[in-house]
Amino acid sequence: MGKLYIYFSVSGNGELVAEKMKEKQYDIVKVIPKKKLPKSFFALIMKGGFLAGIKNKMKIEDINVDFSQYEEIVIGSPIWNGRITPPINTVIADENIKDKITAFVLYAGGGQAPKSIERINKEFPDATITILKEPKKYPEELEKL
Ligand SMILES: Cc1cc2nc3c(=O)[nH]c(=O)nc-3n(C[C@H](O)[C@H](O)[C@H](O)COP(=O)(O)O)c2cc1C
Repeated sequence: MGKLYIYFSVSGNGELVAEKMKEKQYDIVKVIPKKKLPKSFFALIMKGGFLAGIKNKMKIEDINVDFSQYEEIVIGSPIWNGRITPPINTVIADENIKDKITAFVLYAGGGQAPKSIERINKEFPDATITILKEPKKYPEELEKL
């Protein structure tokens, strides 16, 4: 039985986390939204921030993985507007995935996400949560993993 890391990333912080998880023998899946996200940072902040705020579940490309192979799934998400990202909202609602989630890795500009922690503690009371502050800028944050 293997370990799977499912993550989302727009600007590359999440890629560094995924590399580290690969070193830790996780199989890696990157979530891809069906619709392209806005290219401009401002438009992304407006749209992404809004959608995250309403816990939107963004449509994503199929994850072609046999989940029965895995005993443990870890989820990686940037923090948008204090929340988990819309593509990851879709993943963690999936019946094939949610019962196997053991941990979350969150990456955020400020290194804090109290609203997300509250939500995860409520919906996934047994999952551990690691928050990293901008690993692209502070690679030492990856040591927390
Ligand atoms: C739409 C949007 C909203 C964001 N909101 C927050 C926030 O509320 N708090 C925070 O600490 N960082 C926020 N950030 C910064 C990202 O969480 C941070 O840069 C993260 O490392 C990005 O991960 P990525 O490079 O893998 O996409 C936001 C970034 C975007 C694009």
